[in-house]
Formats: sequence, C-alpha cells, structure tokens
Amino acid sequence: QEGEALRPNRMKEYIGQKKVKDNLSIFIQAAATRGEALDHVLLYGPPGLGKTTLANIIASEMGVSIRTTSGPAIERPGDLAAILTALEPRDVLFIDEIHRLNSSTEEILYSAMEDGCLDIVIGKGPSARSIRLSLPPFTLVGATTRAGQLTSPLRDRFGVISRLEFYEVEDLKKIILRAAGILRLEITDEGADEIARRSRGTPRVGNRLLKRVRDFALVWEDGIVTQAIAKEALNRLEVDPVGLDNIDQKTLRTIIEAFAGGPVGIDTLASTIGEEAETLEDVVEPFLLQMGFLQRTPRGRMATVRAYHHFGYSLPQKFSSEE
Ligand code: ADE
Repeated sequence: QEGEALRPNRMKEYIGQKKVKDNLSIFIQAAATRGEALDHVLLYGPPGLGKTTLANIIASEMGVSIRTTSGPAIERPGDLAAILTALEPRDVLFIDEIHRLNSSTEEILYSAMEDGCLDIVIGKGPSARSIRLSLPPFTLVGATTRAGQLTSPLRDRFGVISRLEFYEVEDLKKIILRAAGILRLEITDEGADEIARRSRGTPRVGNRLLKRVRDFALVWEDGIVTQAIAKEALNRLEVDPVGLDNIDQKTLRTIIEAFAGGPVGIDTLASTIGEEAETLEDVVEPFLLQMGFLQRTPRGRMATVRAYHHFGYSLPQKFSSEE
C-alpha cells in the first residue's frame, strides 16, 4: 500500500487517538506480562484514521507476527480454517472490513474466538463427520467503519472495542511534519498547518495532500512547501479551507439546492449525486456531522445553518421561524 513507509510501527511513534492508545497500551502490557495472547480487539471508525496501523502496532508491541486479510477476501469457511491453523501462538490475525464476512465463515469464527477451537466437517453426505481442532491462542483484530454493521454475536466476542475519532488539527500537523521528515521534504510550520487544517481530520488524507502539494512546490518553485503554495495547490485540488473535498461540497450543495436544505433520504441523496449510499454513510457523512454541517433526523439529512453560511447561501425562511 501507498502509505507503507509513512506508517508508524510502534505505539510511541503513533500520534493522536490518545484514549485508544493509552488503553490498548495497558492491555498489551498486561497480556505480555502474563505471557498470554491479547484479548480480541475491535477497531471501528471512518476510513483512514489508523485502524490497520494500530493492528500492526499491536503485533509489534506484543512481539508476534500479524496475518492480514479482509472480510470479502475470505470466501469460504475453509479459507478461514487454513489461516487460523497456520497461526503461531499469540499471533495477531487482522481482518479488515470484518462486517463483510459471509455468515457461514462468521460462524466458524465464533468458536475460534471464544473456545479456541474449530469445528470442521469432513466428507459429504451420510458419511460426513465433524471434527474439532484446537487452535493456538491468538488475537483477532477486527476493523470496520461502523460497529453497528456487525452482528451482535460477533461484536460480543471482542474483549476490547475501541472507536477511532477524527484527529485534531494539532495532531495532524505533527503527522504531516513527521511524514515530511521521512520524505526528506522541506516544509514550513505554516505550510504544515495549512495542510493539516484541510486534511478532513484524517491522516491518510493529510499524507496524500502532502505528496500532491510537494509536486506543486517542485514544479512552481524550489520544492519548499510554504503556506502560500499549500493554499494555492489545495485550492486547485478543490479541497476547501476547512477540508471539505469535492464530494463533501457536492453533498451539501445538493441538499441545499435540490432539496431546499432537506430533510432528504439517504438513498435519494445518493442517487442524485451519483454515489453509493454506503459511501455517503461511511465516508462522507461522519465528517460533515462532526463539523456541524449536516444533521441526521428521522426524516432524513438536513443542511445546518452553518452549511448555508459556509457556502454563502442566504438562509431560507424555515430557519428563522424555528428560532
Ligand atoms: N501516519 C499516519 N497516521 C499516523 C499516526 N496516527 N501517527 C503517526 N504517523 C501517522
């Protein structure tokens, strides 16, 4: 993956997510002291906030290997059985997009997580019989965008459930300065700050924008990332001053212009702007909600007063009558 070189390997290099980091560090230290596998960990939250990075850090801190796969990649129960039986004691198995496991595979996982065993059926028809394999102790780290997408039997089998939050600008700035150091890129403090403020609270976005701004800096000037270059480059990339990207802007403008500010149902909204409803819910909405540009109501999504102001629309009557 693109971000590989920039990814921190140890907890002490990992910036932000203080609550998650502090708690996980305790559980890791305790498990390591007892010589046991860490309990199963569920990480959830919007994409790009560091779930995969944390899974790798957990394995490094435990001093074990990690096997990485994803819900959609595990097609049959046998695929999962092959992975589980190949683990060494205390290893980490990381399953990204764990909400997308099919139900027969998910059921295999229940006994593996809870009892450390695997019930597999050998043969077919009348001669089929079931055997029980015992597994080495392991840690399942599952990642998903929304914990609510998981079935409750699966969710209930995680001993640690942590939600990742959008990053503060200050933390994003540190992450961008760290990445610039690794990329041997000259950047001013104000340049890093400008990119951080437009990174949508998301390290993956910040690191990507840093690389694009670097390109503009090299071609336009001497390669040094200054605030002026960052501003101009990010404007060209249609990332606005508070970090709203193309789709964010289109989503809000559509609610305001085509649906009179809402409420509008998620499926109607998605088809109007030509995105998947799931992408809107998992990727676009969380940031707009957090920024106070969007409200979720039982009747659908609504643009807030703040959204109207941000895009320079005059407020419709309904806001003044409500207040
Ligand atoms: N790179 C991406 N995410 C990071 C984080 N949370 N800390 C340090 N570097 C990062």
